[in-house]
Amino acid sequence: MNISKNMTKVFNDQIQAELASAYLYLSMAAWFEENDFGGFAHWMKKQYAEEVEHAMKMFDYVASRGGKVELKAISAPKREWANVLAVYQDTLAHEMEVTKLIYKMVEAAAKEKDYASTEFLNWFVKEQVEEEETASGIVATLEKVGDSVVGLVTYDHVLGKRSTKIGRASCRERV
Ligand code: FEO
Repeated sequence: MNISKNMTKVFNDQIQAELASAYLYLSMAAWFEENDFGGFAHWMKKQYAEEVEHAMKMFDYVASRGGKVELKAISAPKREWANVLAVYQDTLAHEMEVTKLIYKMVEAAAKEKDYASTEFLNWFVKEQVEEEETASGIVATLEKVGDSVVGLVTYDHVLGKRSTKIGRASCRERV
């Protein structure tokens, strides 16, 4: 059964949101590069790549169900932050907003009894739990680090080791 017009729109909106997330994280990576935090920049580039993956999962899903993928404009992301903590606080706040968007998608799928989309979206529901946990773990560590230059440089090194996925333990590694 082909995806409905309404669910196609729901997915196209979220493809835009995921790509906007990617753009935001790339902007954060640029800020970190500019401020000589190569490790945090690396982490953000991985986060950028993950958001592109999220968008592409949805892109492929819509196409596989006979829907018409339509890409929308993405506005320029925020580019300046006060400090490292502020960047990760924004990351956490952003992921919490994305979680709300995913929940709205789940509600839209349920309303239409689109079980295939419900099943597909379950992966994103779980992913958002991880995304929020990771970001809040980093914020908690940065709050402890405060203005300590040694602490920031050490944590920069820790997050610079991120492969594709980063778990709670490594994010919270003590500095
Ligand atoms: Fe695509 Fe970070 O959620």
